[in-house]
Amino acid sequence: MTQNPPEGLSPAVGAPGEADYSNPSVTTTLGDLIAARLGGLAQAPVGRRDALRGLGALSALAALPAAATGLVGAASKAHAAGSASPSTLTFAEIPHILDATTHVAEGYNAQVLIRWGDPVLPGAPAFDPNALKAADQLKQFGYNNDFLGYFPLERGSNTSTHGLLTINHEYVDRKLMWSGQDPDAIDTQTKEQIDYEMAAHGHSVIEVKKDGDTWSVVPDSRYARRFSALETEFTLSGPAAGHKRLRTSADPTGTKVIGTVNNCAGGVTPWGTVLIAEENFDRYFMGESLPAAEEQNYKRLGIKKPDYGWYRFHPRFDTAREPNEANRFGWMIEIDPYDPTSTPIKRTALGRFKHEGANVIVNHDGRLAVYAGDDERFEFLYKFLTKNKVDLANPANNKHLLDEGTLYVARFKDDGTMAWLPLVHGHGPLTAANGFNSQADVLIETRRAATLLGATPMDRPEDVEPNPVTGSIFVVLTNNTKRKPDQVDAANPRPANEHGHILEIIPPGGKGAQARHEAETATWMIFLLAGNPAKPEDGARYHPATTEAGWLSCPDNIAFDPKGRIWIATDGATKAGIADGIWASDVEGDGRALTRHFFATPTGAEMCGPFLTPDGTTFFCCVQHPGDDKDSTFDKPSTRWPDFKDGMPPRPSVVAITRKGGGEIGQ
Ligand code: FEO
Ligand code: CA
Ligand code: CA
Repeated sequence: MTQNPPEGLSPAVGAPGEADYSNPSVTTTLGDLIAARLGGLAQAPVGRRDALRGLGALSALAALPAAATGLVGAASKAHAAGSASPSTLTFAEIPHILDATTHVAEGYNAQVLIRWGDPVLPGAPAFDPNALKAADQLKQFGYNNDFLGYFPLERGSNTSTHGLLTINHEYVDRKLMWSGQDPDAIDTQTKEQIDYEMAAHGHSVIEVKKDGDTWSVVPDSRYARRFSALETEFTLSGPAAGHKRLRTSADPTGTKVIGTVNNCAGGVTPWGTVLIAEENFDRYFMGESLPAAEEQNYKRLGIKKPDYGWYRFHPRFDTAREPNEANRFGWMIEIDPYDPTSTPIKRTALGRFKHEGANVIVNHDGRLAVYAGDDERFEFLYKFLTKNKVDLANPANNKHLLDEGTLYVARFKDDGTMAWLPLVHGHGPLTAANGFNSQADVLIETRRAATLLGATPMDRPEDVEPNPVTGSIFVVLTNNTKRKPDQVDAANPRPANEHGHILEIIPPGGKGAQARHEAETATWMIFLLAGNPAKPEDGARYHPATTEAGWLSCPDNIAFDPKGRIWIATDGATKAGIADGIWASDVEGDGRALTRHFFATPTGAEMCGPFLTPDGTTFFCCVQHPGDDKDSTFDKPSTRWPDFKDGMPPRPSVVAITRKGGGEIGQ
């Protein structure tokens, strides 16, 4: 979700104001300074690395000539003159563009696969934008598709032409859903509207098949499911399940929750389940009168005044009436899409915060490492390591794997090293003296525990994803305009960071499968600093051969193709005057950090859910909140993508991209 709406554009429903962040302990960290860790340095001559390490401040870094960094602040003259690109990606880049529709590199097809309101469950009625009914929406594709995962059929295969898509529905855009609707008028919405919003949230599972060049949704599939905020039951598991702070009048056991909200990004496990995040759950709770016992907890998460009027008809969303309900949101959820009867499970061992997503890698010792970000300004980066090993031969044996293990939070040092600090009850300050009486308390208040450990406040951690080829972890930091000059550090090196950046964490042990994800230390470097290289004030840094079209802003979600190359989706690039979309880059070799522009979304949209089939021949992505521009409404939207029919509003949709004539994406 866009947290930082472009100036002049109205925020989406649920998007917080610019001033919002809730970490009260953000303090000056400047000290003596930034030894900036720039991408490309791994290949740089030692003398060059040393020269950079010796730098004091970002201002000095910004003043460095491009040739001294290996990265560049302006488009390469050599490239403009037509010399061969060092990138292994050879598709024809598209120019920066911002208009009513999508654009993809020449030689590719971009096909709309499913749209808000399209049928998911058997018996779903046809979409009628003038008569939205909650009962219909519960059978139809939900709103604002975000994360997307592809699961081959049969389970355990690498089939790339037939599988399941699991898709998050993060939030709603009220002004684009109803004619004449004031998006802020939550006090006058009808119960039917409220229930519709709740039904439009959640998750969908659909079965998809490729015939020739064309993907289609298999109608009436036995796998098809809709999960919603309105009526789906979730189980709580792990150390906080059943804890008294999770018990409510409707659920005295503290183990069953109706609904999920703000499902942003996610991840897939190697045993064929999907992990989906509960991100900005605070905005769904009326918290003007907070229960005394949870006051600090709820304030730390920003629970105050809701962006949704659900509490008016569903009192559990009012903290004054159901004081513990908000403790039952903010978790990672695991769903088995291959079993249509499975119950979705909120896994408390992974902590409670504004989860962006969770991405996993099997460690060299067989355990699972899960990497996750807390997407808010000045919040933290996390790792979870399971206690037990993954059983790839028997998926059922992994049923409780995510309930036991150790959660860590990251502390970055300016010398290019970092530490993973265990969030374990009884260790360090995580004791009763600080209000932590059990591991459940540590997990329910993960942010406060992490602050006490001295975690590094980051520039909005979005996707955090291990690269299966290199074994390093890419940390996408989307932006943070609130970071002051005296709050910069080497890992968050720009004040008023409008464009975001990407870090790379290198665990010890070696490349790929050799990487030791259990280690409590690692090294790190900056992969790129986003922004427009033609504007020195942006302080952007990419590979020297990056073209005029190759720069990006506000990186958010990423995917890796079978070669380990990074595909970056953006959220908020419109503030820099360009459409959100997809950029791809090598992560190693001569083309490292040479981002190339592949896809552009329609006006008002953000790009979500990049995911490739196992063979790398289909690239799925989600166009979220198309038409979410200032003054754009249901009646007069800024675009009617993808239908372009009178009376039809813009519709968030899944797009399948393939090469004309077939072949791997990227060539
Ligand atoms: Fe929902 Fe962090 O973007
Ligand atoms: Ca985002
Ligand atoms: Ca996101």
